[in-house]
Amino acid sequence: MNQTCRVVVLISGSGTNLQALIDAQQAGNLPIEIVGVISNRPNVAGLERAAKANIATKTVDHTEFSSREKFDHCIAEAIQSFNPDLVVLAGYMRIMTAELVQQFPGKMLNIHPSLLPKYPGLHTHRKAIENGESEHGSTVHFVTEELDGGPIIAQMHVNIAKNETEQSLIEKVKTIEHQLYPQVVKWFAEQRLQWKSGVIYFDNEALAQPIRL
Ligand code: GRF
Repeated sequence: MNQTCRVVVLISGSGTNLQALIDAQQAGNLPIEIVGVISNRPNVAGLERAAKANIATKTVDHTEFSSREKFDHCIAEAIQSFNPDLVVLAGYMRIMTAELVQQFPGKMLNIHPSLLPKYPGLHTHRKAIENGESEHGSTVHFVTEELDGGPIIAQMHVNIAKNETEQSLIEKVKTIEHQLYPQVVKWFAEQRLQWKSGVIYFDNEALAQPIRL
């Protein structure tokens, strides 16, 4: 990567994490070019955010495909058409096939609203509250074929208050995500972060444990 890191962002909805990346980039704090935004849902707010920032968008509506394989084939084509250095999943709510994931080894990141490996999957905030956890948070990891199971790069924690509701916790976690994701993308763009042969390297040293921000 000798020039600016080309980033494609995949979304399904509101795109507040996408907005955090756009804002950081526009403020001069993130040395990337967001070359495309792809959504599996038409007319979502994230697409409007991208258009407002003059970023090319594509919609690949999963409801128009008869199988996950066919849909992912089209998603892969859409991603490859932007020739990215990095693929960023930001609230992208589709499970990916191995065929798709394997096209981007060490080049695809996801953000998940829990302190993985705790609470993979959906409704993480509700489950954390119901289980009486004292803290929750968010994780950025490289994407592998295992859902929310790829190697963990970094995490941020939030406290769960006594009167915490699912909605208030969702908002708390989103606030930290908007710091966490731009930071990890920045490390990748600056080539400080790599995933090679199953090992995460940060500043050329194997990462022994997730970075806690
Ligand atoms: C975030 O909480 C992220 O962790 C999860 O989906 C949510 C996306 O929110 N994967 P937004 O679309 O970026 O606002």
